[in-house]
Amino acid sequence: MRIPNLLYEFQSVFNTTKTPRSFFAPGRINLIGEHTDYNGGHVFPASISFGTYALAHKREDQKLRFFSMNFTDTGIIECDLNNLNYDETHSWANFPKGVIKYICENGFKISNGMDILYYGNIPNGAGLSSSASIEMVTGVLLEGLYNLTIDRLEIIKLGQKVENEYIGVNSGIMDQFAIGKGRKNHAILLNCQTLEYEYAPIELDNHVIMIINTNKQRTLAGSKYNERRSQCEEALKDLQTELPIQSLGDLSIEQFEEQKYLIQDETNRKRAKHVVYENERTLKALLLLRQGNLDQFGSLMNESHLSLQNDYEVTGFELDTLVKTAREQPGVIGARMTGAGFGGCAIAIVEKNKLDSFRDNVNKIYASAIGYEASFYTASIGDGAREITGGVL
Ligand code: GLA
Repeated sequence: MRIPNLLYEFQSVFNTTKTPRSFFAPGRINLIGEHTDYNGGHVFPASISFGTYALAHKREDQKLRFFSMNFTDTGIIECDLNNLNYDETHSWANFPKGVIKYICENGFKISNGMDILYYGNIPNGAGLSSSASIEMVTGVLLEGLYNLTIDRLEIIKLGQKVENEYIGVNSGIMDQFAIGKGRKNHAILLNCQTLEYEYAPIELDNHVIMIINTNKQRTLAGSKYNERRSQCEEALKDLQTELPIQSLGDLSIEQFEEQKYLIQDETNRKRAKHVVYENERTLKALLLLRQGNLDQFGSLMNESHLSLQNDYEVTGFELDTLVKTAREQPGVIGARMTGAGFGGCAIAIVEKNKLDSFRDNVNKIYASAIGYEASFYTASIGDGAREITGGVL
């Protein structure tokens, strides 16, 4: 995908001849382990080559000026370093504002204002973490511009805090972690309770990971997401009346099956079931990939989707149609939704020499069932958030 001349854009938007520094943070896909992060379980995400670019320059005064080439309608959004409170009229710029606010509150000195231009090539609202990508690119640009040494995990946690406390979505730590710690050609197996993690090389030989966007916008995602989280918390509380566990991620499938009667509400029981089984699938997935057993890995992806469809109920007609159609194509090893759900993207592992027919067939069937087309991207797994050195873009 061609990237526009961002230096030119920066200089004309901010009417300056100054040369800014350039930073990049990727988006992410999650191979498996969905809605397990805020339940103390495991996730298995990877950072992708699409993401958010930010060009930034310090100012002499205390003004912050933000411009996004993805939301040109909102123009330059301006505020002051001394007032970083959430402001609805600041729309998308609340994400970087939140990061700046919390970095200052953690004791790092941001002495001057800045001009920052953002450009993202992650489709918005597609479940590939465009918001965590903006947060993380803002974290690394502050580090770079003000010569700060901030532990990467601290930036990751601040990004999550922005979502939870500043924006009001009670998301887990997966997205910021995958984006902050991503490594080229590797996925990350992360234990969300202890934050221990390991990298697993993704070598798919004759296959590629396709990202398929339902192109359904996820307007209700925030509220439904928070609802799922509370249902899991209620299920956990019921289980804790008898079991000394800290999170649903502590339970094996056997323990869950024996003790699930403790969960009073039937819907909550289904939510917890998904989490426990998905957590075990995620651990199994790592082992299978290590053994090069792609077929079994694909089966786990399929099971994961079914569980998100029937027990967690976060898929919807578009994702289900897409995933079912994808799976029926020759050369497909597995397919599932990725990210929060409620629309957004699916991923499929597809044989390289079947890609064209895969795209054509899936798109045809999807468009006739849904009324509009899907979009297809091949995912390459790239490095995490960083400064782009060696000249601006
Ligand atoms: C969103 C959240 C993550 C995670 C996923 C579901 O991407 O930001 O923390 O909960 O949904 O796995």
